[in-house]
Amino acid sequence: ALVILSACVDVKDGICTTSCPVDCIYEGERMFYIHPTECIECGMCESICPVDAIRYDDEVPEGEEAYAEMNTAVFLDV
Ligand code: F3S
Repeated sequence: ALVILSACVDVKDGICTTSCPVDCIYEGERMFYIHPTECIECGMCESICPVDAIRYDDEVPEGEEAYAEMNTAVFLDV
C-alpha cells in the first residue's frame, strides 16, 4: 500500500482523494490516511500530492515510520 506521511499534517490538500480509483483515502482530524488493504498501489496519489506527502510503504523516509504506521492503526478497531 501507499502511506500518507507528516507533510500532510495541517495541510490536508485533499487532491489525492480525487486521484484514487478505489476511494481508499480517508480524512482524519489533522491529515488524511490510506486504507492499507483497500489500496491497489496504483501510485496516482503519490504523483498528485502538492506537498509530496505520499510514499510507497517500502520507501518511507527515516523518521516517518510512525506516520506510516498510522495509516494502518487508524483503521483498526480497538
Ligand atoms: Fe494530504 Fe497531499 Fe492528500 S497534503 S490530503 S496527502 S494531496
